[in-house]
Amino acid sequence: MSDTRRADPLASLISCWRQAQFLKDPAANFVALATLDESGNPATRMLTLRHMDDKGAVFYVNADSPKSLQLRADTRHELLFFWTSLMVSARMRGEIRYRRDPSFLEGWRQKPLGSRYADRLHTRLAQSAAIASRSVLIDELATLREVEPNPQDVPDALQELIVAPNWLEILRISDADRLHNRTAWVRNGDYWKGQTLVP
Ligand SMILES: Cc1cc2nc3c(=O)[nH]c(=O)nc-3n(C[C@H](O)[C@H](O)[C@H](O)COP(=O)(O)O)c2cc1C
Repeated sequence: MSDTRRADPLASLISCWRQAQFLKDPAANFVALATLDESGNPATRMLTLRHMDDKGAVFYVNADSPKSLQLRADTRHELLFFWTSLMVSARMRGEIRYRRDPSFLEGWRQKPLGSRYADRLHTRLAQSAAIASRSVLIDELATLREVEPNPQDVPDALQELIVAPNWLEILRISDADRLHNRTAWVRNGDYWKGQTLVP
């Protein structure tokens, strides 16, 4: 027998995220993204959650990075959110979409200079490539500073990655009685169907 209900778990997740931000949770905006590498092994890394609304979770990623190449080859993925301030975790899977809308391009130009250089560096050195030593990075950055004193051009490969969820699992830890609250949700068109899981 299953316990199914209709609700909006994405709205609940967004509300948790806002609450974690309000509580100044140091990890409020950090999410782990798992993909599958070319050998079929799991590959996980942290990303910064830039935005989340009813269309999904938005991240900024480099289209030439291993994570992006992996997602192009095989869209299977999972996001893991965890807010210690709330003791809530969430797993999310969905449709992978990409976007570069005008607000993203304009927002990039407002980023601190160091962040813009860090992104521009990927136009000279492939992200995640092995290099001889850290001095290679420092030398490239010095050259970049000379060539581009105030970078305004968003790197061509930088894009918004959107995970539009169609599967969610939310776990709320109950310290009081350890009877945690855990529900898996599947989206069916405009509706979500939830099923209580043994925590
Ligand atoms: C706290 C934190 C936030 C990060 N945010 C991002 C991010 O928003 N976008 C990104 O591409 N990499 C981000 N990174 C770096 C990634 O974790 C990863 O090292 C990098 O993207 C290369 O991953 P890949 O080789 O799997 O493509 C972040 C790392 C940490 C520790």
